[in-house]
Amino acid sequence: MALYSEKVMDHFRNPRNVGILEDANGIGEVGNAKCGDIMKMYLKIEDDVIQDVKFETFGCGSAIASSSMATELIKGKPVSEAMQLTNKAVAEALDGLPDYKMHCSVLAEEAIHAALEDYQRNSEKNGTASEKN
Ligand code: FES
Repeated sequence: MALYSEKVMDHFRNPRNVGILEDANGIGEVGNAKCGDIMKMYLKIEDDVIQDVKFETFGCGSAIASSSMATELIKGKPVSEAMQLTNKAVAEALDGLPDYKMHCSVLAEEAIHAALEDYQRNSEKNGTASEKN
């Protein structure tokens, strides 16, 4: 059996949503101290919906595939739904990752949560967080 699924290889070779979002209003950067890999997520959120998302990952193939899949899973989704994204869901959407590569999908979950928290902090600062309620 191949070590990596077709989907992992596809998202590694042709990652979706790579780059920087100049007008991002939520940015999260996380790293794994053990392997040294770093992931940065940029979110453009309007009306509590993720309109656009991009990422930069300095890391292994599984980390790149995980970031790519994670961006696809949250694009167009409400913030509340994106908050529920787990590394397990990312790994499942990739048709699985080897056990010792599961931490790469954890990085994607953490990067998205960090970017969403940054967005929430920014909204609170600008006084826009609860105005729509
Ligand atoms: Fe560290 Fe993949 S080896 S994120």
